[in-house]
This record gives sequence, C-alpha cells and structure tokens, in this order.
Amino acid sequence: MSIPQEFISELKMRSDIVDVISSYVKLKRSGRNYLGLCPFHGEKTPSFTVSPDKGFFYCFGCHVGGDVIGFIKQAENLDYVEAIKFLAQRAGMTVPENAADNGMSRLRTRLYEANRAAARFFNKQLYTEEGREGLDYLRGRRLSDSTITHFGLGYAPKSRFALVNHLKSLGFTKAEMIQANLANETRNGNAIDRFTDRVMFPIIDLRGNVIAFGGRTMMKDFKPKYLNTSDTPVFNKGNNLFALNFAKNEANGTLILVEGYMDVIALHQAGFKNAVAGLGTALTPEQANVIKHYCNEVILCYDSDNAGQMAVSRAIQIIRPTGLDIRVLTVPNGKDPDEFMKTYGEQGPARFRMLIEKSGNDVDFRLNKLLGSYNTELTDQRVNFLSEAAKLIAGLDSSIERDVYISKLAMEQHVSKDAIKEQVSRIIKKNSSNASKREFRELKKQMNAESSRISRENHSTFGSAKAEESLIALLMNNVDIAVSVFKSVPPELFADAFNKRVYETMKANSEQGFDFTLTDISGSFTDEENSRIAQILASHASESSPKQAADDYISKMRENAERVTPDQVAAADEDELRRMIENMKKKKS
Ligand code: UTP
Ligand code: MN
Repeated sequence: MSIPQEFISELKMRSDIVDVISSYVKLKRSGRNYLGLCPFHGEKTPSFTVSPDKGFFYCFGCHVGGDVIGFIKQAENLDYVEAIKFLAQRAGMTVPENAADNGMSRLRTRLYEANRAAARFFNKQLYTEEGREGLDYLRGRRLSDSTITHFGLGYAPKSRFALVNHLKSLGFTKAEMIQANLANETRNGNAIDRFTDRVMFPIIDLRGNVIAFGGRTMMKDFKPKYLNTSDTPVFNKGNNLFALNFAKNEANGTLILVEGYMDVIALHQAGFKNAVAGLGTALTPEQANVIKHYCNEVILCYDSDNAGQMAVSRAIQIIRPTGLDIRVLTVPNGKDPDEFMKTYGEQGPARFRMLIEKSGNDVDFRLNKLLGSYNTELTDQRVNFLSEAAKLIAGLDSSIERDVYISKLAMEQHVSKDAIKEQVSRIIKKNSSNASKREFRELKKQMNAESSRISRENHSTFGSAKAEESLIALLMNNVDIAVSVFKSVPPELFADAFNKRVYETMKANSEQGFDFTLTDISGSFTDEENSRIAQILASHASESSPKQAADDYISKMRENAERVTPDQVAAADEDELRRMIENMKKKKS
C-alpha cells in the first residue's frame, strides 16, 4: 500500500474511533469500552464493542471487527484508500498526492468527475433552445425552478453525440465514458450517448458524488419510460437510494420510502424532505441496512395498485429484520404521491400529512391484506381467515402488541377475545417448542464440530495457537515489551500461518520505527482478516503482569515447536533422529 506510514499514524491520532463510530451508532460507555447495537446486522441487544484504548471495534454477534479505517470501509462501502481519504477529510488532512494513486481508486475518481460533468451539461441544456422542451416538461409536471436546481435535473439532447463530444472536449476518454455508462459502444468501436431526448435525474451518493442517472422519456407510451445507469465501478443500484443525500439530514427518525423519482421530488417540494426511493428495483436488504443508519421508522408509500401492494409486502419482509418500525401509507384513488400533490395543489401538503397520521403499521397492513383474500361471509372461509390471522399475531414479539390486535380482530369479526387469545397462545407454545428444539439441535451440531476440530488439530498446535494469539494481543498493547520480543522471537516460532503473518507485519513496522497497533497494520489485511485480529484483541483482557505473561506464552510456543511428533520421527533420517534425541536430553537436564 502506497500510503506512507507517517500519514496513517497522524490520521489515527486525529480520528478517535469512538468519535467516528458515534456518528453511526449510539454508543454507551461500559467500563473501558463502549457498547452499542451493531450497524452491520440487525440486533436488539448490544453485542457491538468499541475499545478506544486499543483502537478497534468488534461485534460478538456477527464477528465483524477492525480498526477505524475498517469501520469506515464497511459503513460507507469504500475501498481502503477511499476510506483513508474520507477520514482525512474529516480530520482536515490532505492525503499525499501520489499516495492515493492506486489504479482502481483513480478510475473511480475519474468516473465521479465524468458523472459530475455530465450532470452539469444536462442541467445547462434545459436553458438552451434545444432543451426548452425538457424544461417545459418539468415545469408542466409542476416542478418549480428552485426544485429543478436543487435536484440538479437536466435534459439529454436528441443528438447521439452531444454528451460524448462535450466530455471529449473536457479530456475524458472513450473508455471512461463507457465505464461510467454515460456512453454505449457501437459495433465499430465508437462511443455514442446512452441518454438521448430524456429529462435527467442525477443520483447522488451520501458524499455528494454524482454516481448515476435516471432518464425519463417525454413521449407517452415510449419504452422504457425510465432508462437508468447500469451498475458501474461507482454505482450499485441495490446499495443506493434516490435523494438519501438530502433526506438523511431531514429524517428526524423517520424516512418515507416511495417508488419513483418524481414521487420523491414532489414530496420534497411539498415539504416532506425525508422521502427517498429505490432505484427501479425491489428494495434490497442492503438498502434496508443503509436506511437503518438514518431513521428508526419507515413509512412505506407505494402505489395502491396490485404491483405496488405486492412491493409493500416484500419491503416489509426485508425491513422487519432490521428492527425498524414500519408504517404503511396508502394514497387513495390509485394515485402516487406525485399525482396526489398535483391533484390537491395547495392543500396537498396538509392532506398528505393527514395520510401519514392515519397510516397504520405493518401489522394492520398484513391483516387487511389477509382479510382481502377470504370471503368472510362464508363460515369456513371465516374460520380459515381467523386461524391465519392468529398465526400472524402469534408472530409478534410484544405481548402488548399481540393483545391490541387480538382485541381488534375480536371486535371486527364478532368473535370472543378469549377464543382468539387461546388460539394465539397455542401457536406460540408450538412455535417456541419448535424453535427450542431447533436451537438445541444447532447447539449440539456446533459442539460436535468444535470438539472434532480440537481433536483433529493435534492438541499441541491448538494450545500453541492460543498462546500465539495471547502474545499478539499482549504485544499490541505493550510497546516496550513488544520491541524486545521482536528482537528475540523469530516469526518461525509461530505455528499458525495467519498468526505468523500478523506478527511479521507488526515486527516489520516496529523495525522501521512505526507503531504497530491494528490501525497501523490493517492496510496489509483483508476485512475478514482484520475482523479476526479484532476478535483476538476483543477476547484478551489486558494482562496485569505483561512481562511475565509474555515469557509464559513464548516458552509455551517454544515447547510446542520442539515437541517431536510421531510423523516427524517416522520421516527423520539418522542425523535428524540423533539431533532430536540430543534436544530431548538437553530439555530434561
Ligand atoms: P412508475 O412506472 O411508477 O413511474 O415507476 P412513476 O415514478 O410514477 O413515473 P412518472 O410519474 O410516470 O414519471 C416507478 C419507478 O420505477 C422505476 C423508476 O425508478 C421509477 O421512478 N422505473 C420505472 C424504471 O426504472 N424504468 C421504467 O421503465 C419504469
Ligand atoms: Mn408518477
């Protein structure tokens, strides 16, 4: 990695891990560490720990861990160099020029630049003769000039070379235009504009980079209605949301999730600046996790047609596991939020606010949907509905919530509350005995796997790996001891290949006069490997007499290294055998 160690050291000092992580996770002090809900998997009780002294985080639930750079990599979906740039910007530092000169990172920078230039170009076109049509279209859809500017909307001209020629004049190569998916490659190898004669919606990431576009045709019934950027090195449609760059600062705990670009824009214009949309695909778990960083409640506001309601059901299934509260808002008369605002004009915002207040949670939605699929006039269908409804209610975690829906259902269906209650309890009992049976089986499986693993790895290297890990944790926390250990203990003494690499990397840093905490060496390891180092650190408390402990671990490792296995004896030639015997004698005396 070409980023200088001095820079990393400085960056580490200026990027307190608790500070940094606190803008993503609510952390609570607990002794020397901090605890919170893991941002990388859904959980209700905290298993995410941050150690400010040792500069690492680790989740005991999903086993993700690492240093402050690793955290930013994963939370912001960046590569190593980008994460360093991100932290540097935050700390008011500049990454040394050629240091960031890594191939992929350079390409991505170019693609961001090309996209930004394209967005400027499209926006400018609105105010030209040729683009007039686009501006009229947007105004015709009741967008104000300041909304058009705020969202950076634009127009892609009819000519097939308008953008390509413009980007060329700015020094972008054909390959860059094609990689950014701003141009298509023709059969004879030329670049032609991907977007022509469309109004353009730039998609902007959380750091303000233009990463993609959606382009809408202005012709009725022309297909596709919206043409979007395909995935590129800077854009993944399943990880991003339209307008989250604006909405994240306005969320106040709640985000409104709608279907279309125009719905988002109409809502923002009406004062609902917490609206976001997916990017033309069904909601993904990645998007749900991103959303979770910025709110604790989502209002689903999809079309009231069949497809829209199916999308709501799917979205609920994706969002529920994140622990976010969900409400479902249905816009009446089959309209989408954009049409709603257009229909009601000045009254739109107040009316929409009422819809929000009236919107039920996802349980109401699911019960209603269930109800819709039975004809409850008929006795047997009514019984079936009630038993399905009881199953749904039995699945709720909170007993208060269950009670509310039992009462509601009893009233609406004119059945006794006790009857439903009994049914629900029966299902819960059955579910939980199934679940505990499942858990028991799972536990037994894990224990079997563990014990066979221990017996497989011959006992000595297992003990030795533990001593190695303890030593690594100790050295990271005790610089003075480490420096003398590096001088006397060769990496070859480590039996475990991974532990050996960690030790070698720390040792190399130290020999060049650098620190060797996790942050100082994390650039040499993958995310998974850094998680493993964080795990080693998280599972070793600081030693009260570290010098003594270090000596103990080292002698344990020496002992294991010298232990002769039956295989070695069988394979040894005469000389080697003699040496083994000498060694054993020496140890005894
Ligand atoms: P809709 O078809 O519901 O359109 O698509 P809309 O948002 O109401 O658009 P207007 O009001 O007619 O302009 C919802 C979303 O699905 C994606 C787009 O993200 C769109 O905003 N979509 C739709 C596409 O990506 N491609 C398409 O051809 C159609
Ligand atoms: Mn619409």
